[in-house]
Amino acid sequence: MLLREALDYLEVHAGGTYIDATVGGGGYAEALLEQGARVFGFDTDPAAWEFSHRRLAIFGDRFTLVKENFSRMETSLLARGIEHGAIDGVVFDLGVSSHQLDTTSVGLSYRIDAPLDMRLDPRLPVSAREVVAAYDESKLARVFRDYGEEPYSKQIARHIARAREAQPIGTTMELAEAVTRGMREDKKNETLSRIFQALRIEVNHELENLKTALDASRSMLKEGGRLVVVSYHSLEDRIVKDFFKRESEPEFTPGSIGALRERIDRSRAGLRILTKKPVVPSAAELEQNPRARSAKLRAAERLAKR
Ligand SMILES: C[S@@+](CC[C@H](N)C(=O)[O-])C[C@H]1O[C@@H](n2cnc3c(N)ncnc32)[C@H](O)[C@@H]1O
Repeated sequence: MLLREALDYLEVHAGGTYIDATVGGGGYAEALLEQGARVFGFDTDPAAWEFSHRRLAIFGDRFTLVKENFSRMETSLLARGIEHGAIDGVVFDLGVSSHQLDTTSVGLSYRIDAPLDMRLDPRLPVSAREVVAAYDESKLARVFRDYGEEPYSKQIARHIARAREAQPIGTTMELAEAVTRGMREDKKNETLSRIFQALRIEVNHELENLKTALDASRSMLKEGGRLVVVSYHSLEDRIVKDFFKRESEPEFTPGSIGALRERIDRSRAGLRILTKKPVVPSAAELEQNPRARSAKLRAAERLAKR
């Protein structure tokens, strides 16, 4: 989603080195490779490894698949001999792929009956089933409030605690039933999407990983290099927005004035924001893909080193 816009902001050029932090089915990476770039593609999902490997094999060693969480971007690249300041652009197309939502193996959707797992990386130690079984009521409520912005987090946590006393919750449908017991029909879907989102974020440590990876991206980019992030919910977007703001704010220098201050500020700031407001999908893209309705793109350029 927002692929064309992401490519415009990345200013892709042949021979440049780019990071696709979320390679998925390989759509973004392919577009970069077609323009002659070298690409390192990160993902943790074995299905994504297979899709992208097959789709991108024709580009030979210009494409490197890195089977790691993007939070390990810095160490993974340094281990491959890619130095700080060597990268022309980093792109994130966050969240989950349509394939992950529709498959029954991960249990991300409340519309599909599947084992309650939610791990985007099967190597992660704790599944959603274990979270739902082991967290006490107040910890569950906190997850629903903080990661789902759920107004009835305490009541829902109580429903779950009662349901699991009677019988363990092992599937998406069992969880959906416990969450929506006694709820008005027209409230069920929006509540379920908040609760499922919250659990997915908790299981995959999504927000912490994003913060780590944004920092790493800034360190890996060369001066003039571009950082482009497409996010799909307000929590992610807020992290990106705050990161850009923090990195583009000059450090205050007491006594600095006029041109001198500007020079000092510029040399200290890490990023220049390119999107005053986030870019959203066009009407045509939304018509083709309703899942794009919450997508927001933000872009920034790396300035001189702090
Ligand atoms: C929306 S899809 C990306 C689609 C891709 N742009 C394409 O064109 O096919 C998001 C992908 O990011 C991966 N992902 C999510 N969080 C990740 C993380 N922390 N580290 C690595 N990959 C991650 C998911 O497994 C999924 O394959």
